Amino acid sequence: MNNLLEIRDLEVGIEEKTILKGVDLEIKPGEIHVLMGQNGVGKSTLVSALMGDPKYEISGGQIILDGEDITDTKADYRARKGMFMSFQNPEEIPGVTVEDFLRAACGAVRGQKQKVLAFKKELYSVMDAMQMDHSYADRYLNVGFSGGEKKKTEILQLLMLKPRIAFLDETDSGLDIDAVRTVTNGIRDYHNSSNALVIITHNAQILEGLKIDKVHVIGNGSIVKTGGEELVRKIIEEGYSEFSKGGECDG
Ligand SMILES: Nc1ncnc2c1ncn2[C@@H]1O[C@H](COP(=O)(O)OP(=O)(O)OP(=O)(O)O)[C@@H](O)[C@H]1O
Ligand SMILES: [Mg+2]
Repeated sequence: MNNLLEIRDLEVGIEEKTILKGVDLEIKPGEIHVLMGQNGVGKSTLVSALMGDPKYEISGGQIILDGEDITDTKADYRARKGMFMSFQNPEEIPGVTVEDFLRAACGAVRGQKQKVLAFKKELYSVMDAMQMDHSYADRYLNVGFSGGEKKKTEILQLLMLKPRIAFLDETDSGLDIDAVRTVTNGIRDYHNSSNALVIITHNAQILEGLKIDKVHVIGNGSIVKTGGEELVRKIIEEGYSEFSKGGECDG
């Protein structure tokens, strides 16, 4: 099967500082990948660069989506092509309600303006599935939301936008046990054989009940280890010392 996303020898820097020194990754449709690594190794940097965030400078390598080289394209193009990122720290947007934001985003991605009433109906049905009160639709995006409410709203976006590939950056952090389950259920509802997920996490809970295809460990600017689901348990029990040593030897 062809790759949905291919990352070749990607180098990313921020403010003159090189963070990623050559990341290679291949993701096929239907797969779920997990990305782990110590704080500050560049996990968020990687997904932000993949999404086309202009703060991050790609100084080498290529990003191939569905066979198309998108390395030099803008963020909105990548979003329209079906790339989605759930932010580690979702931004507050005063003046724009959750519903308005999602209607505009869905309109852009689907290529046509969304009719108000039909869209509201669709939104409410997804909110019901997520056990989210409809009143959140009328609130300004993330303004005054608790940490957990922000993360759930990110999953609401995932379920409405139905991207081809989704990067979830610590969508589980700060969530209570029931909310983690809601997020995992949302991921399961979204995932099918033609889309793919990359989940960044420091915990195993969010992964419970999901079939993980590959686990990657980032260290020292590149992927230092790739394994199966068992790697998550090993890291949680033993930490990263083994990999950071390996990273130094590689470098
Ligand atoms: N806007 C920025 N300005 C300066 N340095 C930055 C910026 N964004 C990221 N960095 C630096 O790049 C490095 C990688 O950060 P990144 O957020 O990608 O790490 P991470 O792997 O996601 O960590 P965590 O597990 O804590 O979320 C860090 O040293 C960070 O301080
Ligand atoms: Mg991060």
